[in-house]
Amino acid sequence: MARRIKSSFALRFYSEVFGLDHLHYGLWNGEPLTFDGLRSAQERYAKRLTGLIPEGVKTVLDVGSGTGGFSAALKGRGYQVEGLSPDPHQQKLYGERVGEPFHLVRFQDFDVPHSYDLVVMSESVQYIWLQSYFPAIRRTAAGGHLLLADYFRIRQEDDELPEGSGHDLEAFLSEAEEAGLELVYREDVTDQVLPTLDLGRDWLEKHVDPFLALMNDTLTERYPRIYGLLRLFLRRRTERHLGKIRKLLDGKEFQRTRRYLILLYRVAPGS
Ligand SMILES: C[S@@+](CC[C@H](N)C(=O)[O-])C[C@H]1O[C@@H](n2cnc3c(N)ncnc32)[C@H](O)[C@@H]1O
Repeated sequence: MARRIKSSFALRFYSEVFGLDHLHYGLWNGEPLTFDGLRSAQERYAKRLTGLIPEGVKTVLDVGSGTGGFSAALKGRGYQVEGLSPDPHQQKLYGERVGEPFHLVRFQDFDVPHSYDLVVMSESVQYIWLQSYFPAIRRTAAGGHLLLADYFRIRQEDDELPEGSGHDLEAFLSEAEEAGLELVYREDVTDQVLPTLDLGRDWLEKHVDPFLALMNDTLTERYPRIYGLLRLFLRRRTERHLGKIRKLLDGKEFQRTRRYLILLYRVAPGS
């Protein structure tokens, strides 16, 4: 049975607290390191993807459509666009911003009524296991194209794959080929996404760290016993979680272990 996931707190936080129309890293080109800078970097990213849409495309499925920002832009350009995400809050946003059709489902469970000229995925490929991802692409984009932008993990000198999010790049490329996808465009934009990590780290250090320190001091002072116990319970989880975020926001680490790519594939017709 198709499984729904809960609304993502993190994605909702980015769009509502930072007022972002897109939930991706953007493509920077010298903008100031501010949230306005990020917004224009995100517009550049959306334009770059739009510029890669092959001629003749009419129907588009925006998989992992987030707040609907990219779909709205595509609709404005005359494409017949449909959104898809398993997140009920994003369904609501999509309805307000873009309208129907929207599919509230995980991509791997999507029982496609017909295939689309183009499936577009910005920073949503990493959420889907490859074993169910490529069959879903073959169903939804048969005879059409797949345009995606996302980051991938790369093997290190010792052939180890670093921990964390993002598919194994080599595995992704070879499984795509096996699935009958022909690569027609590839661009490495890793350097152009890095300022987003600097901005995130800066924000964490200026706002989250002092807030956590203040909460810690206040709760220790007011409820020393209860909070002492709670802290024992929570500390490891919080540290692990924040540790992961800090690592992902470390630009040097990202450059060493990840590649942010834009890929355009031609998908073989269905059999
Ligand atoms: C980082 S956001 C990117 C949103 C949007 N594409 C953008 O660039 O602004 C990731 C998106 O993938 C969606 N997602 C997560 N798991 C998914 C799945 N299994 N199938 C389809 N979408 C999924 C999330 O709900 C979210 O919309």
